[in-house]
Amino acid sequence: MTIYLNGQFMPITEAKVSVLDRGFIFGDGIYEVIPVYSLRPFRLAEHLSRLSHSLASVEIENPHSDAEWTNIIVELITRNAQQDQYIYLHITRGVAERDHPFPNPPVAPTVFMMSKALKNPAPSVLQSGVSAITTADTRWLRCDIKAISLLPNVLLRQMAVDAGCAETIMIRDNEFMTEGSASNIFVIKDGVVLAPPKDHFLLPGITYDVILELAEANNIPYQVRKILRDEIFSADELLLTSSTKEVLAVTLLDGEPVGTGKPGPMFAKFHELYQIFKREVMRA
Ligand code: PDD
Repeated sequence: MTIYLNGQFMPITEAKVSVLDRGFIFGDGIYEVIPVYSLRPFRLAEHLSRLSHSLASVEIENPHSDAEWTNIIVELITRNAQQDQYIYLHITRGVAERDHPFPNPPVAPTVFMMSKALKNPAPSVLQSGVSAITTADTRWLRCDIKAISLLPNVLLRQMAVDAGCAETIMIRDNEFMTEGSASNIFVIKDGVVLAPPKDHFLLPGITYDVILELAEANNIPYQVRKILRDEIFSADELLLTSSTKEVLAVTLLDGEPVGTGKPGPMFAKFHELYQIFKREVMRA
């Protein structure tokens, strides 16, 4: 596998980063995950804009212009050559003596990118949906930043795995739903798609935007508003989205069926619309 590190392309086995890198020491950095269909990065401008929001929020200077990012990403895609892949892009504050405040003067950020194969969700998963658990959202108050310090998300996801489930859906202050440990969540009730607002409590998903655009374009009613805890338990359907999972139905929540316990009509609709969108827009 060819990766990109600080200006150079190389085999992953040759890539080395200092143990004093602030990403290693403090988890001080940000990342992006960009899906690539038929060798074309999907919504690159939107991913680069979220990248720039994350960097600005943690006061790391963006090391590249969008045109430079595009060139590097396209080159990495070409060197890995799988039709469908995803680019993992990771920037840390760089290498410095261990001290909590930012290095002064600033040091060069560490820039790392790799490509992994992107696989469609398995037909069995589409057919049965996935199970999830709910738990308190124990993360910080800047979940809009795509930070590499993912220990809370790691622990939250492991709770799901320990319970034999695929995802953990989080409830903030025992009051409202935020998102999954690595996904956005939509509630379907009485034919309406309910989406939590893109505030500091969740990551503004690029796939989230696609879902609402598809709803808009296909006259599917939707509302963007806070979703109360009880609403996820009385949902007709729950949808989970991310760049790597596309759209999935959550059919079992805390061991209880969601609606009928099977992927519902709204899942079927969005799955179909997403596949058409992929074929006609993403791959085109
Ligand atoms: N995660 N919320 C969280 C906490 C996430 O980590 C992700 C994606 C999403 C969905 O965002 P998008 O639609 O832009 O992929 C929401 C990626 C896939 C990851 O960490 O691997």
